[in-house]
Amino acid sequence: MKATVVPVRTSSKPYNVHVGTGILKQLNNLISKAGATGRRFVVSSHKVWKAHGPTISKAIGRADTILVPDGERAKTVKTVGTIYDALIQAQADRTATIIAVGGGVIGDVVGFAAATYLRGVRLVHIPTTLLAQVDSSIGGKVGVNHQLGKNLIGAFYQPSIVVSDPVVLNTLPRREFRSGLYEVIKYGMIRDPSLFQRLHDNLSDILSLDPIELVYIIATSCRIKASVVSEDEYEGNIRRILNFGHTAGHAIEAATRYRRFRHGEAIAYGMLVVADLAARRGLIKEADQNALAELIAELGPLPSIKDLSAQDLVEIMGRDKKVLKGRLHVVLPTRIGKTVIVDDITRKELKRSLRVVGTAP
Ligand SMILES: NC(=O)c1ccc[n+]([C@@H]2O[C@H](COP(=O)([O-])OP(=O)(O)OC[C@H]3O[C@@H](n4cnc5c(N)ncnc54)[C@H](O)[C@@H]3O)[C@@H](O)[C@H]2O)c1
Ligand SMILES: [Zn+2]
Repeated sequence: MKATVVPVRTSSKPYNVHVGTGILKQLNNLISKAGATGRRFVVSSHKVWKAHGPTISKAIGRADTILVPDGERAKTVKTVGTIYDALIQAQADRTATIIAVGGGVIGDVVGFAAATYLRGVRLVHIPTTLLAQVDSSIGGKVGVNHQLGKNLIGAFYQPSIVVSDPVVLNTLPRREFRSGLYEVIKYGMIRDPSLFQRLHDNLSDILSLDPIELVYIIATSCRIKASVVSEDEYEGNIRRILNFGHTAGHAIEAATRYRRFRHGEAIAYGMLVVADLAARRGLIKEADQNALAELIAELGPLPSIKDLSAQDLVEIMGRDKKVLKGRLHVVLPTRIGKTVIVDDITRKELKRSLRVVGTAP
């Protein structure tokens, strides 16, 4: 099957995202063409490597393998240190290529190690969760968490190539898959009514991992993220639309200490919040607001937020990174595929919309 190639044109480095069913078999050729001429180091997690290591190592050819823990709790400088140790012990030099095989956590941690080892060695992303395929592997944000906050330590570091094969999603837990789909809904909401429509029309095929549907939603999402980051590599104004639904979403994740929700699930609530805010200001038609709510509902139940206080969530939002000069910038939908950024949402409006989507006062 021919792969879909999505170019990412950042000013620091252009690269391609290759999306295709079974494309991992061509890995050796793809990464060689992307410049991986020196030694290759695959960095993955025990869990991911157990499921996909045999196929991937066969396809890559000669490579050293470094396995580290994954999951949000392993997204630390300590794990980065483990990677440095292994690279130094193996005498990896500046011609080395680091190949990150895993979800968003592995991509961010390994990407940060690649950005800093010998001041930067070549990086390849092989994302294995839907979230990583549609979001975290593109755009060059890499980094780790600090005890005092998420993603506080990091860099912008673009890979040389991203290879996304939907086949790896067959082993992904259901909930992780659905969590990634909420980000796909986000892309539809911010830029692409036909992507949104496709999710609506073909949801059951998508949920049963139909290869044609998966390639379509992954490649389309990559195209949208690529076009946004190409316009705005270092997160000025335009890149902010990618935070659609993330202001309330991040607050919900933080309030529950990153334990109750998968990221996408919290973003689903966040999208409902911004849709309600927009509707109350008369910015979006009821039909569009309902279409979003229905699609989110069709994906299945979300963990409850009824014990979370709207007041607390608003406090957390006030401390968000996206507060600029004391003003919270919020991306509101105006119709499916279109948004507007506003900076005058009041606490009262926020609280009301949070309560509408299900929090306690
Ligand atoms: N860099 C960015 O621009 C960016 C964007 C969005 C999110 N992120 C980051 O991504 C992280 C979340 O990523 P995630 O949702 O992929 O979570 P994750 O990396 O924790 O993976 C989720 C779980 O799925 C398992 N897994 C991965 N691939 C699998 C497969 N194919 N089969 C079976 N199990 C598999 C992992 O072992 C893990 O337990 C967060 O840390 C977030 O900050 C970064
Ligand atoms: Zn997100």
